[in-house]
Amino acid sequence: MCGIVGYIGSEEAEETLLTGLKRLEYRGYDSAGLAIVGDNDLHVEKQEGKVDDLRGALDGHPMKGTLGIGHTRWATHGAPTDENAHPHVSTDGSFALVHNGIIENHSTLKTQLQEKGYAFKSETDTEVLVRLIEEVKRETELSLPEAVRQALTQVVGAYGIAVVSREDPDLLLAARKGSPLILGVGDGEYFIGSDAAPLVEHTRQVVYLNDGEMVTMRRSGYEVTTIENEPLDKEVHELEWSLGEIEKGGYDHFMLKEIMEQPDAMADAMRGRVLPDENDIVLGGLHDVWDRLHEADRVVIAACGTSWHAALVGEYLIETFAQVPVEVEYASEFRYRDPILRDGDVVLVISQSGETADTLAAVREAQSRDVPCFGICNVVGSTIARETDAGVYLHAGPEIGVASTKAFTAQVTVLSMMALKLAKGRTLSEAELARNIQALADVPGQVRDVVEETNERLEEMAEVYRYASNFLYLGRGYNFPVALEGALKLKEISYIHAEGYPAAEMKHGPIALIDRFMPVVFIAMKDSTYDKVLSNIEEVAARDGSVIAITDEGNGELDELCEFVIEIPQTEEFLSPLLTVIPLQLLSYHIAVMRGCHVDQPRNLAKSVTVE
Ligand code: AGP
Repeated sequence: MCGIVGYIGSEEAEETLLTGLKRLEYRGYDSAGLAIVGDNDLHVEKQEGKVDDLRGALDGHPMKGTLGIGHTRWATHGAPTDENAHPHVSTDGSFALVHNGIIENHSTLKTQLQEKGYAFKSETDTEVLVRLIEEVKRETELSLPEAVRQALTQVVGAYGIAVVSREDPDLLLAARKGSPLILGVGDGEYFIGSDAAPLVEHTRQVVYLNDGEMVTMRRSGYEVTTIENEPLDKEVHELEWSLGEIEKGGYDHFMLKEIMEQPDAMADAMRGRVLPDENDIVLGGLHDVWDRLHEADRVVIAACGTSWHAALVGEYLIETFAQVPVEVEYASEFRYRDPILRDGDVVLVISQSGETADTLAAVREAQSRDVPCFGICNVVGSTIARETDAGVYLHAGPEIGVASTKAFTAQVTVLSMMALKLAKGRTLSEAELARNIQALADVPGQVRDVVEETNERLEEMAEVYRYASNFLYLGRGYNFPVALEGALKLKEISYIHAEGYPAAEMKHGPIALIDRFMPVVFIAMKDSTYDKVLSNIEEVAARDGSVIAITDEGNGELDELCEFVIEIPQTEEFLSPLLTVIPLQLLSYHIAVMRGCHVDQPRNLAKSVTVE
């Protein structure tokens, strides 16, 4: 959603804030703004557009001051306009506030405030919070921190806020409920950020704020309390990310960098966990709860988007290897449908960001029913990672591109490890386990071959298909979720409509769409489903459909039927998603680039959907 950054120290704030916003731009980027306190005055610059546009507007007349806040917006209330951009400022111009989240009772509050004579310039819910703080200050003469606390107790919904005031040039205030905020602890300087990206070049000492917590920062130090002003003693953590990891590393886009990083990301996900020499899998984060998972009568997996596709692969993996029933739910459905959960159930949530609102709500729904909830997350210290009872980190490194790539394959890698560990001593002999563990350990090398050997060909293919209006993606078994993922990748970065289906489903409707203008991507690995998929390919080819097939190296029997055949190494059937998804990622990437789309920041999307 939106990105928040704040700074208090002895250096000029503007550059730190602008650079910080740039690193947060993948979270939201339809407008941006800064508020800086200097010379006992509050200076605000905000506008529709990207951070670079804001930087351009400031060129030649920088805002002086060593205290400030910044914001990149992903519009929830009110279109992207200069007026709706954050920061929002008090009527008297004394303080400014930035906000990430949704104030659900903003209409009621706004009406009450308008009746008291307050005027509003924007259509945002955030401005309502500013006016509410003003009203609390007017009514009670409380200090700004106390007025903010008081106001927040009247707010229903989610917020991450940062506040500065010209009346207290030694105060940076931040509070969170539902939207992430991290405090960066420097030497006589402090930072606040929606995640670690804007902090890492300044400090690796961080404090993770939990819901219902507020931090007041002054140049002499900081204090974390509850919103109700109960002091808290918070642990200072060491950030794992390096600056290099959040830079593009010479690639044109973060997405391409992250596609190419997948061999390393998978290897990092397995490091210290996949032990071929011991014929074992070790998942330290689940060690204390392993019996609960091992003895589960049922596993419910809740997630969103690409993580939901990984969950579908997990369903096949866990049912196949552990013989335990698995149910996969959209987190947004799970949280509202009063799900039936029983003793013996375990809920597993998957979230790259660890901040997705619907998935976080699924965690809380499960825990409210005393059902253990475990997480698979990438961002260390993220809310979901901290609120689940246990979990496994992906260790895939920061994923900046909005379209998830290395997180998906890392999630499937973790799910594969879990499935094999569940199978140990249960459905697999030691020899079968050894074979499968070795096959998993070999996958990163195979993925490296795929990214290196298919990228150029997929770029050529993108030239052919860049003008298509629709795509179909078809697969069976473990590769049905990959078909869904391939379709999502294309949709979200090239804006071409695409649908994924189980290949057999084509005959139940989608085949009516087939003509020579409809590219159909088949995942046709020579596995247990191959013969059926081959029949489906023949059905499409017979109707003049344009077929693209992903298949095993050396499988020459598709050449006559298909426009393009992408050959990839053979692996165990259950591991094939880790390979088959790569060409689909690259095809989407190249088509999107050729269509001039903003690959890392696709229109209307945000990297982490921290509101409903
Ligand atoms: C995937 O490319 C999208 N960015 C989106 O569907 C994403 O997977 C979804 O929002 C879930 O995000 P999470 O894994 O951080 O919870």
